[in-house]
Amino acid sequence: MFLNLGVMLVSVLLLCHGTCSGSGAASPDTLNDGRRNITDGQTLVSAGGSFTLGFFSPGEPSRRYVGIWFSASTDAVVWVANRDSPLNDTSGVLAIDGAGGLLLLDRSRRTAWSSSNKTTTGGTTSSSSSVEARLLESGNLVVVVRDDDEEGSGAVLWQSFDHPSNTLIAGMRLGRNPQTGANWSLRSWRSPEDPATGDCRRAMDTRGLPDCVSWRGDVKKYRTGPWNGLWFSGVPEMASYSDMFTNQVVVRPDEVAYVFNATAAAPFSRLVLSEAGVIQRLAWDSGSRVWNVFAQAPRDVCDEYAKCGAFGLCNINTASTLFCGCVEGYVPVSPAHWSMREAVAGCRRNAPLQCRDGGATTDGFAMVPGVKLPDTENATVDVSATLEGCRARCLANCSCVAYAAADIRGGGGGSGCVIWAGDIVDVRYVDKGQDLYVRLAKSELAANKKRGRSMLKILLPVTACLLVLVCVFLVWVCKFRGNRPNKDNQAKSVLGGASNQLIGDENIELPLVSFRDIVTATNDFSNENMLGQGGFGKVYKGVLEDDKEVAIKRLSKSSGQGAEEFRNEVVLIAKLQHRNLVRLLGYCIHEDERLLIYEYLPNKSLDVFIFDAASKYVLDWPTRSQIIKGVARGLLYLHQDSRLTIIHRDLKSSNILLDVDMSPKISDFGMARIFGRDQQEANTNRVVGTYGYMSPEYAMDGAFSVKSDTYSFGVLLLEIISGLKISLPHLSDFPNLLAYAWNLWNDGKPMDMVDSSIADNCSPTEVLRCIHIGLLCVQDNPYNRPLMSSVVFMLENETTTLSTPRQPVYFAHRNSEAKETGENTSSSMNNMSVTMLEGR
Ligand SMILES: *[C@@H]1O[C@H](CO)[C@@H](O)[C@H](O)[C@H]1NC(C)=O
Ligand SMILES: *[C@@H]1O[C@H](CO)[C@@H](O)[C@H](O)[C@H]1NC(C)=O
Ligand SMILES: *[C@@H]1O[C@H](CO)[C@@H](O)[C@H](O)[C@H]1NC(C)=O
Ligand SMILES: *[C@@H]1O[C@H](CO)[C@@H](O)[C@H](O)[C@H]1NC(C)=O
Ligand SMILES: *[C@@H]1O[C@H](CO)[C@@H](O)[C@H](O)[C@H]1NC(C)=O
Ligand SMILES: *[C@@H]1O[C@H](CO)[C@@H](O)[C@H](O)[C@H]1NC(C)=O
Ligand SMILES: *[C@@H]1O[C@H](CO)[C@@H](O)[C@H](O)[C@H]1NC(C)=O
Repeated sequence: MFLNLGVMLVSVLLLCHGTCSGSGAASPDTLNDGRRNITDGQTLVSAGGSFTLGFFSPGEPSRRYVGIWFSASTDAVVWVANRDSPLNDTSGVLAIDGAGGLLLLDRSRRTAWSSSNKTTTGGTTSSSSSVEARLLESGNLVVVVRDDDEEGSGAVLWQSFDHPSNTLIAGMRLGRNPQTGANWSLRSWRSPEDPATGDCRRAMDTRGLPDCVSWRGDVKKYRTGPWNGLWFSGVPEMASYSDMFTNQVVVRPDEVAYVFNATAAAPFSRLVLSEAGVIQRLAWDSGSRVWNVFAQAPRDVCDEYAKCGAFGLCNINTASTLFCGCVEGYVPVSPAHWSMREAVAGCRRNAPLQCRDGGATTDGFAMVPGVKLPDTENATVDVSATLEGCRARCLANCSCVAYAAADIRGGGGGSGCVIWAGDIVDVRYVDKGQDLYVRLAKSELAANKKRGRSMLKILLPVTACLLVLVCVFLVWVCKFRGNRPNKDNQAKSVLGGASNQLIGDENIELPLVSFRDIVTATNDFSNENMLGQGGFGKVYKGVLEDDKEVAIKRLSKSSGQGAEEFRNEVVLIAKLQHRNLVRLLGYCIHEDERLLIYEYLPNKSLDVFIFDAASKYVLDWPTRSQIIKGVARGLLYLHQDSRLTIIHRDLKSSNILLDVDMSPKISDFGMARIFGRDQQEANTNRVVGTYGYMSPEYAMDGAFSVKSDTYSFGVLLLEIISGLKISLPHLSDFPNLLAYAWNLWNDGKPMDMVDSSIADNCSPTEVLRCIHIGLLCVQDNPYNRPLMSSVVFMLENETTTLSTPRQPVYFAHRNSEAKETGENTSSSMNNMSVTMLEGR
């Protein structure tokens, strides 16, 4: 890599001038008396050829780094020496000094980096020395004492494995030495072009049970869950690739560390912490010469640290409650916040405990089965206890709120004891999860017994039935309420007040439609008039007095769309006028009813067409191309051309409605946010939207900007071309559509992803260009994604050249768990949509 022929020749000459072994062409693996340094352009190659050490530039050619990479894949850099002090030019020298220090010297022979903390200046010492640096076949660069006569020969003075960058390879440790406080942790690069120390860190937390934690700055973002003897509690899939990699947590007085080891037959693999804080396990496919993503974390919303707050319980299959619930015997601390889906406030105990220290207690325990155990940061661990002993110990101490087994290797209920005294956080249901025992008052246990623990097993089908019943009930209630006209007069005044309060001083010239008119228009919200329904309510078709057809969105009272969202939507849409945005015609506030009246679009939404085997033929390539361009223009208008900057935050195929001419209209602004002048980015604790369409930085950190909409647009574009859903449940080889698209693109077969219904009569150049633009939109780094203005420009000017996309991380939900448990992946993905399917 970056071989400089001149330097090569000179160095070969220099080498042969000294001790030339005769094989000048092959790179050695050692720096010792024979050769004490390498210059830019020279390399060390490990004995078996797997790893290379040398100088490289990941981005700007003038910034030179010394690093180790896989010889077969030079971009896969596993270690960087001078990540925070790049050299300016190619005059650097890596040398070993007499004391066994590795030094990287710049043009003026100052030390840019050294393996020790000594500040050495000048060149290497000339004295004969008994130390050498060798690049081992494992990828480890070691400095060892070599003198056979000396005591301690072979002792390792320094090794690169002790100083990880952003990558863990077989044999490396992630952990700490509790005695010295030294730690082996990963630090992300700043960007794919810049190996400087980035924001994200992955380290082992050795308090409580060993647990690998990803941090961004000082904020915990994700943890694997405690080590249970076989795998990390939240990563059961670790056990499934044990034929290739063995995972081990070493617990010794001087070391608590995670190590993975590869079997002889295993491919090259690496664990990389990305700039966005995502950890990926990649395996090298030597046939097709690509790195396949084996596993990654976080995988989904429930992996977000403490997503549901204290005593909350995250369930990836309950999209309707935005994934959060409380552990048994607990209720939301603040129902108001909860209904707004601000789950971080967490849950509190429903009934107080009956416990006096030293005295008798009537409390008992409820089992929460199959979970990733809570954060053990403040927990007390005793690995020698039994589970029964643990229960007794917890019962005897009034501050104990929950307990669980520490180790599941013995089978049965497990052994050992973890006791939690404070809040329990970051609990989720997970495949092959552990049982957590939560302390509850007797009254609570009695109540629960009636409901029955066995019910859990049949909970899923029952939930479905219950939902249907609840819907029927709601419809009945709504009808009943709608039939009470005597309330209407009284309602009018309330209505005026309410609307003032809600809408504030925003000056909206939007007709206020009376509830009675709406009841008439929708035939009393009859089922025949219902167009569709979603998490936030139902949509009805209505005919107003002037025979005008409208779509009426009735926000359900139990939905997350409360006053704030309603206000948002009314204020926002009333101001927006663009042919690719759905028009709001009026609204209604009646007691706690909130309704929005939109133009009626007879052709429903885009997803109804592109994902349906029969209907997809309706949309030929020219139509799809117009839809893509129309959505891009609508989005551009939201971002720039209206007086405000508006981030939609929930762009997806079901939110694109089609009018009679199949012209697209973006709808559903319930999640939209307005940015102030000059505001570039915002953060939220409440990540709302639809998984798969969310950009990594938004799903992970709640950071959104116009570029998060660009990402969603990219996903949508690829869906339109391929006719495949982002979740891609039908192609088991790929985690999602992005992976599929990228692989085909990389293999030079992008046309293979084009939907068969348009493949025959589309223009390949146009389609290719669209796929290319789509891939640019879904880049991991928001800075690498184009603004919508560029997207519109690129779509409309077919001769402009496009930049080269990089491989996306495939952040979207991988669904590996769901697959293993035999659940219907497609429905669980679709259920994650939390907005309504308007116009259905
Ligand atoms: C890089 O170049 C600048 C100016 O050319 C110089 O001031 C600086 O010291 C150089 N840094 C290194 C590490 O060589
Ligand atoms: C340098 O490292 C030695 C141990 O190798 C340590 O005792 C000393 O405190 C370190 N000095 C500094 C300035 O960090
Ligand atoms: C590198 O090694 C060569 C001989 O092997 C020596 O002449 C040269 O001075 C060394 N360079 C540095 C910077 O130590
Ligand atoms: C260990 O991690 C802490 C941060 O948790 C860091 O400040 C410290 O420098 C690390 N120690 C070593 C030896 O890397
Ligand atoms: C890793 O595997 C190799 C053989 O494949 C073995 O020699 C080595 O001891 C193992 N290391 C650990 C830490 O298990
Ligand atoms: C552990 O205790 C500290 C100090 O009280 C607290 O800040 C932290 O949030 C606790 N961690 C957990 C997981 O409860
Ligand atoms: C009860 O548990 C807490 C937390 O584990 C501990 O600090 C305290 O000493 C225990 N009390 C008794 C009486 O064992």
